[in-house]
Amino acid sequence: MNGALLTLDSVNTFYGPVQVHFDLSLGVPAGKIVCLLGGNASGKSTTMKIILGLLKPRSGAILLDGQPITNLPTPAIVRAGVASVPESRRLFPAMTVRENLLMGAFTRRDRAAVQQDLDRILELFPRLGERLAQRAGTLSGGEQQMVAMARALMGRPRLICMDEPTMGLSPLYVDRVLELIQTISRQGVTIFMVEQNANLALQIAHYGYVLQTGRIALQGSAPELLRNPQIRDVYLGGQSVQQK
Ligand SMILES: Nc1ncnc2c1ncn2[C@@H]1O[C@H](COP(=O)(O)OP(=O)(O)OP(=O)(O)O)[C@@H](O)[C@H]1O
Ligand SMILES: [Mg+2]
Repeated sequence: MNGALLTLDSVNTFYGPVQVHFDLSLGVPAGKIVCLLGGNASGKSTTMKIILGLLKPRSGAILLDGQPITNLPTPAIVRAGVASVPESRRLFPAMTVRENLLMGAFTRRDRAAVQQDLDRILELFPRLGERLAQRAGTLSGGEQQMVAMARALMGRPRLICMDEPTMGLSPLYVDRVLELIQTISRQGVTIFMVEQNANLALQIAHYGYVLQTGRIALQGSAPELLRNPQIRDVYLGGQSVQQK
């Protein structure tokens, strides 16, 4: 997609002999919230892994602002402006909230600015400010999700990739997390998020892609997708979507 902050161009990804992505192409425009929907095992989390460089596609290209990042190691991709909020948060449970947040700034050398960013980010997450000295492993699920999101922001990213940010959270925290994603987006950070819950994701996203066994089965603006009856089929576990 021309002018997108993030572009995947004809990506083919494998785990050993098993192919997960089939000529996967998509674009995430700067400043937008784009969601990647799809049933179990459709390749959503693998999409996040290849963007972060945790797994390399066998062919195809991943571009950030037009520059290929396909073959860069993960720390270089992070330095280029990509942050992740991985599945199941991946915090360091024995470390404090403060230490976990500072890990999000590990590529940065500007220590004074890091402290300022921490103060600013804590305004978005007041509960974390009260728990800076608490071990992350003792936080509630919702609080851990907040730490993961705040940690991503500590790297001053241009793009945050989130894998199922609302998974396992109580309805109250689901709403809070979705609101925070919108707030972060309004501050100028581009969001690419995986969600199983299409209805939820499309409430806040601008655009969505639906992945089915590693291929884009449907795409459109959030209102278009919310109206699309095929969405239901995809979510009810893969009755086949007619491909045009
Ligand atoms: N490390 C791995 N080694 C081998 N196969 C894997 C590995 N990780 C994922 N897979 C396989 O790749 C396919 C896609 O997995 P992926 O985690 O990307 O799906 P997903 O869309 O995120 O699913 P879910 O909704 O269940 O999270 C699945 O068939 C899965 O079994
Ligand atoms: Mg997944």
